[in-house]
Amino acid sequence: MSKSKVIVITGATSGIGEASAKLLAKDGHKLVLGARRENKLQEVTKAVEENGGQAIYGITDVTKDEDVEALAKLAVEKFGRIDVWLNNAGIMPQSLLSQKKILDWDNTIDINIKGVLYGIGAALPYMEAQKSGQFINISSVAGHVAGPGSAVYSASKYAVRAISESLRQEMAQDKSNVRVTVVSPGAISTNLLNSVTDNKVKAGMEQFYDAFAIPVDRVALTIKQAIDIPEDAAWNEVIIRPTAQQM
Ligand SMILES: NC(=O)c1ccc[n+]([C@@H]2O[C@H](COP(=O)([O-])OP(=O)(O)OC[C@H]3O[C@@H](n4cnc5c(N)ncnc54)[C@H](OP(=O)(O)O)[C@@H]3O)[C@@H](O)[C@H]2O)c1
Repeated sequence: MSKSKVIVITGATSGIGEASAKLLAKDGHKLVLGARRENKLQEVTKAVEENGGQAIYGITDVTKDEDVEALAKLAVEKFGRIDVWLNNAGIMPQSLLSQKKILDWDNTIDINIKGVLYGIGAALPYMEAQKSGQFINISSVAGHVAGPGSAVYSASKYAVRAISESLRQEMAQDKSNVRVTVVSPGAISTNLLNSVTDNKVKAGMEQFYDAFAIPVDRVALTIKQAIDIPEDAAWNEVIIRPTAQQM
């Protein structure tokens, strides 16, 4: 277990974000939770406190830079610093390119890519001033392998890896002592499939997830371990797949 840290989580109302908040709370960390649904933010805040952590939340749409900036400011005003920023909010509305689902394309790019950039932009000045910090950016196995139906989602997750690698090198160059970690999960049981707008694609993915998906606390544990290793080292990328998932 590491010392108590201030950890900001986007997409904290469900799945990986929610499970990470609850697990990290057990180590006494201070959690700053961001997402759009206030009732769920309140529920997770309560659960964090019941697990031994402290939490505050800010209603945050990661496609709005002003919301993301406000979340960072909230963390610093309430807890004095930002030690970890978990860029986790994401959607996965997979579809064939021939369907030309432009709204899905735009939302995926806005949430999965711009949301990550806004998070980095908001937290980086504080981390540079502190001379310490860590970004944990959630990519995907789909950020390593593209296939039919995954074009835009995969592109967004490849982008998360590219952005993270550039950030890592910039931080090393500046001797800023800021760590960069990418976590790329395979099939994990969460509500992510609810973001698939095409019913046929969704049914196929549900079959795959029913066969292979593993519980979300496996990813939360990976995130906790990435935070806990000594600060002169960073896991730069972790792929966590179900043992039985081939691709
Ligand atoms: N589950 C998997 O198999 C899997 C595999 C690889 C990668 N991932 C990645 O893991 C991350 C988390 O997904 P999950 O599986 O935990 O899915 P999830 O259960 O659907 O959770 C998604 C979270 O993102 C938030 N969110 C969505 N749009 C947002 C926006 N515009 N602004 C702020 N928050 C937003 C949602 O909160 P609100 O609706 O309250 O805003 C929710 O808390 C995503 O980046 C996903 O791509 C998941």
